[in-house]
Amino acid sequence: MCASGNASGASTRTSGSDVLVIGGGIIGLVTAWRAAQRGLTVTVADPAPGGGAAQVAAGMLAAVTELHYGEQTLLGLNLASAARYPAFVGELEEASGRDTGFRSCGTLAVALDSDDRAHLRELHALQERSVLESVWLTGRECRRLEPMLAPGVRGGLRVDGDHQVDPRRLASALLTACERAGVAFRRTTAERLTVGGGRATGAALGDGTEFAADQVVLAAGSLSGRLAGLPPELVPPVRPVKGQVLRLTVPPAYAPFLSRTVRAVVRGGHLYLVPRENGELVVGATSEEMGWDTTVTAGGVYELLRDAHELVPGITELPLTETRAGLRPASPDNAPLLGPTALPGLLLATGHHRNGVLLTPVTGDAMADVLTTGELPEPARPFAPGRFGPAAPVLQEQPV
Ligand code: GLY
Repeated sequence: MCASGNASGASTRTSGSDVLVIGGGIIGLVTAWRAAQRGLTVTVADPAPGGGAAQVAAGMLAAVTELHYGEQTLLGLNLASAARYPAFVGELEEASGRDTGFRSCGTLAVALDSDDRAHLRELHALQERSVLESVWLTGRECRRLEPMLAPGVRGGLRVDGDHQVDPRRLASALLTACERAGVAFRRTTAERLTVGGGRATGAALGDGTEFAADQVVLAAGSLSGRLAGLPPELVPPVRPVKGQVLRLTVPPAYAPFLSRTVRAVVRGGHLYLVPRENGELVVGATSEEMGWDTTVTAGGVYELLRDAHELVPGITELPLTETRAGLRPASPDNAPLLGPTALPGLLLATGHHRNGVLLTPVTGDAMADVLTTGELPEPARPFAPGRFGPAAPVLQEQPV
């Protein structure tokens, strides 16, 4: 397809493709890859594709251990995506020639005191009502599985189906798979959505060009609500939720420090330790409503280390190799916004909040389906953007 000139009359180069994906994080990349596999010409606009929240995320595939009250519909999507993960990473690793760090290691959620144990019992009951597999263990049984756990651990849940992937490797595999599938990249910001004849027609880019597309997918994570040119009633209700995350290194002499993901609720906060095969140990995460702030704070690092030390005292011996903060793209119901909007030609793939890594496979499949057929498949239908009604835009516009 080709583009026409811009509305301001300024001279620009124009180019185009069937699909323009705004945002090259893992959600934008998986959408681009899957759409290209279906024969569409696809371009991704992002100054640094492969970046975004996946550079901070721990990569837990925690459909069962991150189950929350009131999120039963989201659970269906999470489980569908978790079930696709082994085949998805197999295909992606084949297509990219890159390892994703996927590990079928399971998860152990533990309680440190009687309040934590009561909380975990509630979670177990909810899991059983939802027909999910989890096994209640005594503190002694937990420590038998993970000897580095504190002696005071009061009990836990073994969830053999909650695995992990390395989000940084996942992003880099998706980037390579996109390149090999013929996806084009514009390494610049999307300044403004362009609209004409009652439909989205592409975007004005930060390099001064206009890019035309039959379909535009807005997949800009927490920045999705800030794209200029969106009709006010269609601004996605997505906000940033800050998460501070630490990375430590397990020296070979200490390995295996932990053999599976270990998580706990400590003082009401969710703590997790995700051990990778390469010796990296990811400790997360804070959950802070701080707008666009990504400062790593002494308080955030202190709280994570204090709670991790209560859970696994030996952690203080490990080198602390990285501290970082990212922004989860949260929606009002904690579930993603997937598929067509009321503006023809504009689709959303955003708002994945805590589950972006987990939901990557199902999002790619659903978006490729809707881009090629116009229909959202089950199980993505409950997540159509229209479910929130007209949005009240409160965020300032800026390039994404
Ligand atoms: N899913 C983990 C987190 O959002 O911290």
